[in-house]
Amino acid sequence: MKEHIGRILLSEDIILERVRQLGQQISKDYRGKEIIIVCVLKGAVVFLADLLRNLDIPADLDFIQISSYGNETESSGEVRISQGLTTNIEGRHILIVEDIVDSGLTLSRLKEVLLAERPASLRFCVLLDKDRTEDVKFDYVGFKLPAHEFVIGYGLDYAGKYRGLRYIATLEI
Ligand code: IMP
Repeated sequence: MKEHIGRILLSEDIILERVRQLGQQISKDYRGKEIIIVCVLKGAVVFLADLLRNLDIPADLDFIQISSYGNETESSGEVRISQGLTTNIEGRHILIVEDIVDSGLTLSRLKEVLLAERPASLRFCVLLDKDRTEDVKFDYVGFKLPAHEFVIGYGLDYAGKYRGLRYIATLEI
């Protein structure tokens, strides 16, 4: 079960401390407002659970599943929405919570789809941001990662495994 776990890049303590800081920053920025957090399935659920418990503003939840990866470690270049929102987001403040950004394709596509529904505002909170050539900026970023690293743990999987690890490690294959 642990055959693919390489180097630990981010320990549980470091992740939780950064998530606490992000929660504080988001709570401060949205003070007096109500938000809907849109969690991108499946990888962001662990991050979402910790982030939510570090917010002290009213936050409702919705989920969307959008995929550009199969079981491989490289993008197929295709982005598909496999499960849509159940909430009407028109006029609402939306915060997208995502685990990791690689090419940025998944989030650019999601941005297009959600902006068409006319939210009052749309921001992105990304736990891990890989260095990339495309210039896409996010409002809240947990950690920057080198582009060549494929990582697992804390919600992130390789072929459906390792999401339950409390830390983030490199994948060894
Ligand atoms: P993008 O569209 O190229 O930005 O890819 C983002 C998606 O690819 C994320 O939502 C993840 O599902 C997946 N992904 C990218 N890099 C990694 C990684 O290092 N580990 C696990 N999943 C990854």
